[in-house]
Amino acid sequence: MCGIVGYSGPQNSVGPIIEGLSRLEYRGYDSAGICLKINNELQIIKKEGKLDNLKAILGESRPFSNTGIGHTRWATHGAVTTDNAHPHGNEIFAVVHNGIIENAQSLKKDLLAEGFQFKSQTDSEVFLVLLTKFYKQTGNTLQSISKAFNLITGNSAFVITEKASDKLYAVKRSAPLVVGENKENREAFVSSDPFALVGFAPRIYFPQDGVICEGVVTANDVTVNFYELDLTPSSRYKFQANSMSMDSTSKGPYEHYMLKEIHEQPALVDKLAAFYIKNEGRKELDTLKGFKAPGWHLTACGTAWHAGLVIKNYFEQINRQRADVDIASEFRYREPILNKGEVGLFISQSGETADTLACQELCKEKGIETFSIVNTEGSTLFRNSDKNFLIHAGVEIGVASTKAFTLQALTGYLMSRAMEGTLDDPKLFSEIQLLSNRIGELCAQSDSLKEVAEKIYTKKGFIFTGRGKYFPIALEGALKLKEIAYVHAEGYAAGELKHGPIALIDESIVNIAVVGPELLEKTVSNVEEVKARRGIMVVVGPKDSPEIEHLADAYIPLDFNGLPNLSPLYVNVALQFLAYHIAKLKGTDIDKPRNLAKSVTVE
Ligand code: F6R
Repeated sequence: MCGIVGYSGPQNSVGPIIEGLSRLEYRGYDSAGICLKINNELQIIKKEGKLDNLKAILGESRPFSNTGIGHTRWATHGAVTTDNAHPHGNEIFAVVHNGIIENAQSLKKDLLAEGFQFKSQTDSEVFLVLLTKFYKQTGNTLQSISKAFNLITGNSAFVITEKASDKLYAVKRSAPLVVGENKENREAFVSSDPFALVGFAPRIYFPQDGVICEGVVTANDVTVNFYELDLTPSSRYKFQANSMSMDSTSKGPYEHYMLKEIHEQPALVDKLAAFYIKNEGRKELDTLKGFKAPGWHLTACGTAWHAGLVIKNYFEQINRQRADVDIASEFRYREPILNKGEVGLFISQSGETADTLACQELCKEKGIETFSIVNTEGSTLFRNSDKNFLIHAGVEIGVASTKAFTLQALTGYLMSRAMEGTLDDPKLFSEIQLLSNRIGELCAQSDSLKEVAEKIYTKKGFIFTGRGKYFPIALEGALKLKEIAYVHAEGYAAGELKHGPIALIDESIVNIAVVGPELLEKTVSNVEEVKARRGIMVVVGPKDSPEIEHLADAYIPLDFNGLPNLSPLYVNVALQFLAYHIAKLKGTDIDKPRNLAKSVTVE
């Protein structure tokens, strides 16, 4: 979703701002803009479409400005137009905004009645106009930010620059915001993501909600000041060295980040097992030994929700502990029953998904402990959780989540085994090694999945089916395909096919059935039913199963042996490849599928 980068210092701000915004491109956006202070005037340059459009306007000989703020917008209020792109500015301030001002309409009505004018249809401009109104009354920027911020509702992060100084200001409520500092170069930075500041700001600060940050660069120094909304100094922030690396930004020999990230899985699986079973992570997992919650509330969105469905099976089957799994946007509005001693477990790659964060907040309000399975150390979810289980997947750049799913589910499995007290069982380590080997084999044989893709990619619709532990994989397979190949795909419990969706089956529809060795026979009759209706049948099932192989139009043989608990993670990788190859044949934008954002920071 929207990206923010701001700079103040002796260099030209355009370089770090454009570099930072391009690092955030993978999150999805539809327009980009920058505000530069040139000849003591705030100059805004913005353009609908890709960042390249903005770069083209800036030209080879980029204008010079010591202070600037930039933004990539993912439209919420107001169409995708150049006017609605950020920054929004006037003769006093320029503002960029991530999130939503929920009471924007009523505030705008009042401001219009007071004679203020608007140039865009965005909610963000309401904040600019409020700032301007209060500045005209007080002549004080910090006071104006505080008053404006107090009036708005909803989750937002704002970064502000002003004509009167080279300072950067920022404030947020439940939205990602990081302030960076480079003492050596006398530079201040601000961003929606520490990733944008890697290599620029060795020291980064994470302000809490309602803390106004002020980056001040002088002739000899740079400082970051923090204020409460009553403008007293604040200590409600955390700081740390920015430990992220840039290696992850290259695609290496792969055509797409998604393909690279699928291929990273064997090594990451091995690394995670070593981390949690043998190395530093063991301490964290050991805190779960013998742990028993009267109930778990697993909450997440999209792919992370599917990982939650896999983890539920572990907690219930291995630990006999009740686990409910909810889609985050549903959980908070269904008035969930949260009892003392229960635990909220939040699963998120980014750690910034607004719906997931809102559910965590709700659990905290109700006084239950919150744990996370999260990829991004330092993210809002990470900072707000009582206990974090990092998945150590590295930056995931492909919008379609692949490696994060595998490592989320694996982390959940390790948590389950930690509660059971069987982390030292040698069979556990070898099962995980086997998983990594089998995924490695799939990576080596990806061409055979391409052949299957070639047979089916022109078809109209895809129904993924799976039973039991493979049901979440059917859902995830369908999600992966629809989001990157733009075809209709849905996941169903195999037994549900006859209760409705079978009506869809004809020669234009493909049923991709995930079948484990356990329920092979039952599936043969399902396959017959689909074939009888002229549907196309692709089966992902155990190798050497002639009884089903000859019935299917395409068969993807897998070796399930030795993976009693982890086979869903293995099968899922086959579906990741299938989705990838279908999308490639259809020629879509695989790493940045249309309309999608990587980190969904609005509810
Ligand atoms: C799909 C996908 C999304 C995310 C979802 C949650 O490929 O990536 O469905 O899984 O938006 O995001 P996180 O995990 O960042 O909370």
